Amino acid sequence: MKTVLSAIQPTGDMHLGNYFGAVKNWVQLQDRYRCFYGVVDYHAMTMPYDVQKLRTYTWDLITNLVAVGVKPENLFIQSLVPEHTELGWIFNCFCSYGQLTRMTQFKDKSQQVREGAKEEFISVGLLDYPVLQTADILIYKADYVPVGKDQEQHLELARDIAQRFNAQVGKEYFVLPEPLYTETPKIRSTADPTRKMSKSAGEKHYINVFADEATVRRQIKSAVTDTGENPTGGMSEGVQNLFELLKSAGDQKSHDDLMQAYQSGNLKYADLKQVVADALVKLTSEFSERKKEINADKKRLKDQIKASSADIRKTAQQTLREVKELVGLMNV
Ligand code: AMP
Ligand code: TRP
Repeated sequence: MKTVLSAIQPTGDMHLGNYFGAVKNWVQLQDRYRCFYGVVDYHAMTMPYDVQKLRTYTWDLITNLVAVGVKPENLFIQSLVPEHTELGWIFNCFCSYGQLTRMTQFKDKSQQVREGAKEEFISVGLLDYPVLQTADILIYKADYVPVGKDQEQHLELARDIAQRFNAQVGKEYFVLPEPLYTETPKIRSTADPTRKMSKSAGEKHYINVFADEATVRRQIKSAVTDTGENPTGGMSEGVQNLFELLKSAGDQKSHDDLMQAYQSGNLKYADLKQVVADALVKLTSEFSERKKEINADKKRLKDQIKASSADIRKTAQQTLREVKELVGLMNV
């Protein structure tokens, strides 16, 4: 069975963009592959963050992932598998400084830091984070990495590091991981469909996967449909987004019926919104219900994740032992 690895940073709420755009795919891949899914808390330290909140966010994300269908046995918390950082160090020595400074995400994120902070502080961690990401992937010898296009460059780096490592040790030790681009939708903000749904833009720009019914209905009801500016005369981004949400939520039939109504000029946006809200509420209330069950016994989930992390750690330790042997480090 081929191996899949992916990871997500613990940074607050999970929204429908994260779910439909990434996590739903994780859930589905579990049937076909050996999956390792990490909540990568070491990565979350690379941008300015609140030390009081990181651990809470980490457990929150674990809870959320399990509530939407990720199996606890496939999940690990990165800091419970410290071999990632040790392998990251080794890989630092197989990666050129210049290549890291050319990463577009490093440029974007350092720009964000510059704009947001009182004093400019760009950590070495931010520069180095793609190397840790490489360790996340290679430590499990992952064949496939489901990622969005924004991570393409980082995956290319992982392949470069694997190749340089193999060349140096004179052995095809690491398999070159491949990106797994599944057709995943891009979800837009309902309040401003010209931008993507995201947390950083503020509360009205995302719909929480665990929002209560009234909130979901309110957010869909107030969704922007026509912005007035639509020079091509085609379907506006806001309406496209509502159709996308409907399809993603799994109501293909209503999607097709309403699309036909749109094409024949008979679609009332209020009707579309009603159906979208119904479909989303069905999903979010199911998720909320499961989250409530999990939260009724928090200790149980924590114990499960500590155990799965310890189990997954064995694979990581084995790789690290082999790597240390190959690169000439002490290995007892
Ligand atoms: P972030 O926390 O924003 O880095 O997102 C985590 C994951 O969710 C990434 O894999 C993104 O590709 C995905 N994602 C975030 N926002 C959206 C969106 N609006 N539409 C689709 N996917 C998204
Ligand atoms: N860098 C990824 C992001 O910002 C998260 C991540 C860390 C990751 N390690 C990974 C993704 C390994 C895939 C594989 O979204």
